[in-house]
Amino acid sequence: MAQTKKLLKALAGETQAIPPVWMMRQAGRYLPEYKATRAKAGDFLSLCYTPELAAEVTMQPIRRFGFDAAILFADILLIPQALGADLWFVTGEGPRLSTITGPDGLLMMKGAQDIHTHLAPVYETIRLVREQLPPEVALIGFAGAPWTVATYMIAGRGTPDQAPAHMLRTGDPTTFNRLIDLITEATIEYLSAQIDAGAEVVKLFDSWAGSLKGEAFDRYALAPAKRIIGALKNRHPDIPVIAFPREAGEHYIGFARATGADCVALDNSVSAEWAVRNVQKDGCVQGNLAPSHMVTGGQALIDETLRIRDAFAGGPHIFNLGHGITPDADPENVSLMLKTLRG
Ligand code: CP3
Repeated sequence: MAQTKKLLKALAGETQAIPPVWMMRQAGRYLPEYKATRAKAGDFLSLCYTPELAAEVTMQPIRRFGFDAAILFADILLIPQALGADLWFVTGEGPRLSTITGPDGLLMMKGAQDIHTHLAPVYETIRLVREQLPPEVALIGFAGAPWTVATYMIAGRGTPDQAPAHMLRTGDPTTFNRLIDLITEATIEYLSAQIDAGAEVVKLFDSWAGSLKGEAFDRYALAPAKRIIGALKNRHPDIPVIAFPREAGEHYIGFARATGADCVALDNSVSAEWAVRNVQKDGCVQGNLAPSHMVTGGQALIDETLRIRDAFAGGPHIFNLGHGITPDADPENVSLMLKTLRG
């Protein structure tokens, strides 16, 4: 069936004069209306698990800016919680979880099939958003990739170099491999249920893929992505998948072909010119304006937006940032980026 939504056209391999555009973390603290809804929810996790409010913050950036895609409002750490980990957020610091340091930690976890009761509010959010979205806007569901989710489950928090996860990976590979398998299987179930609820595209966030080198990258970033995408394609052959192995560098080359992803999202550590030659030659790419431009704005924002749009203009492209927009961003700069991009 011919696609009418710009995002789905790009994912089907179509080159468009003006690319579809959305922004990672487009619902967030840089928006006053997000802060108001979050205050109403009380805390971040209550916001994630209250479908009416999660749907409201998913819609806010669509109403304000008119992006071509909405992304489900949830978090990659809901899966560990559904598997039985404790999860809470410390204001101004970030997430905290119970830790997995050996085989005992795994014994406490539920099975991959047992996550749906806990995650039912997320599926309900998707249904509510689909009812409200304008017909030209696509809805993206998402999950964290197994390695990135494992780094939080092992350390119990975000870490600058993912050292605790690397230590378990090399020190107790049996436990580590079982954990990766469990997250992989739960992620297949979770994304499949998001698609059943109405997600039209799914994205895998491997935010810490860049700390996996050489063979470890193939084993823990590439192989789980391949397994998840293969299983999803079996169940939902028409649903495109975006993979984001952030800071993969040279490993971006061939990643789409090797995993079956329909699109690779690029961070802003690689140049658009390099990515055109090495990654976009295989299909759709997403990215990769530096998020800092949403804070600093001005002529540099205009120049970079046009430079990236023009660099990728010869093939399928989804315009986005190289990582999430930050809380200190100015919404006016988002409007300036959109005006520049769309002319
Ligand atoms: O993009 C969107 O607008 C959709 C929602 C979304 C959130 N988190 C909401 C959120 C998505 C897609 C994510 C993904 C996510 N969550 C990732 C992968 C992408 C990336 O940024 O690398 C990661 C690593 C997480 C884990 C996480 N959640 C951390 C480390 C933090 C704390 C840091 C921070 O920004 O505060 C969160 C919290 C979080 N997730 C917020 C939002 C809007 C801020 C919470 C708040 O309102 O206080």
